[in-house]
Order: sequence, then C-alpha cells, then structure tokens
Amino acid sequence: MKKLLLIALATFVAGAVSVRAADVKAIWDKECAKCHGAEGKGDTKMGQKLKAKDYTDAKVQAEMKDADMVKAIKDGVKEKGTDKTLMKAFPDLTDDEVKALVKHIRAMKK
Ligand code: HEC
Repeated sequence: MKKLLLIALATFVAGAVSVRAADVKAIWDKECAKCHGAEGKGDTKMGQKLKAKDYTDAKVQAEMKDADMVKAIKDGVKEKGTDKTLMKAFPDLTDDEVKALVKHIRAMKK
C-alpha cells in the first residue's frame, strides 16, 4: 500500500513538472519563436531583421541579467536611442510565466 502511494505521488510530481515545462514551451513556440527561433538562436527571418541575439551563445547569456530579461519580456525592447519597437511587451504573462521563460532561455545555452 505504501509503495503504491509513493508511485502515485512520484507520478503526480513528475506530471506537474512536465506540464509546466510544456506550458512554457507552448508560450515560447507561439509568442517568441518567430523572432528568437525555436532554440533561441534568433536565426528566423524576423530575428535576423531585428538582430535578435543567439541565446545558445554562452557569451550572450553572460551579458544578460535576469532582471533585464524580465523587464524586456514585460515592457518590451526598443532600439537604442530611438523609439522603434524591436520586441513588443507581453503584459499579460504572469510573473511565474515570465520567470519560467527566463529559465527556459537560460537553458538554451550550449
Ligand atoms: C518581434 C520579434 C520578437 C518577439 C515576438 C519576441 N522577441 Fe524578445 N527580443 C527581440 C529582439 C529584436 C530583442 C533584442 C535583441 C536580443 O536580445 O536578442 C529581444 C530581446 C529579448 C530578451 C533580452 C533582454 C536582454 O536583457 O538583453 C529577452 C529575454 C527576450 N527578448 C525574450 C522574449 C520572450 C520570452 C518572448 C516571447 C514571450 C519574446 N522575446 C518575443 C525580438 C522579439
């Protein structure tokens, strides 16, 4: 009986974690990948046009701060010195979703 309970619990925990990971990936694929690429390389047509960085590059990752990443996702990104929007803001994402997206991007480092 105890063993069964443990298995049930382990399955439940694993299930909860993978649903979250799948959620983040779904958001990424739907909202972010068209510029940043499925793997974060920024090698899409839009990404190249807007000069999205390669998030698989350890150097690029090292230059980004978590707080700036959160801000970029919530407030959007403008071209330096101009008013041109490079990336629109995503104000509808919850704090947890934004945090999970930052983690998702961090995990792209090769
Ligand atoms: C219209 C194209 C576009 C879309 C869609 C887009 N981005 Fe961006 N994003 C950019 C560009 C361009 C930059 C600036 C260059 C760079 O850092 O790659 C940027 C920058 C960022 C940064 C870097 C901030 C820093 O500190 O340098 C993060 C993090 C980010 N985007 C996350 C996301 C997430 C998460 C989504 C989806 C919810 C998303 N982006 C959707 C184009 C886009």
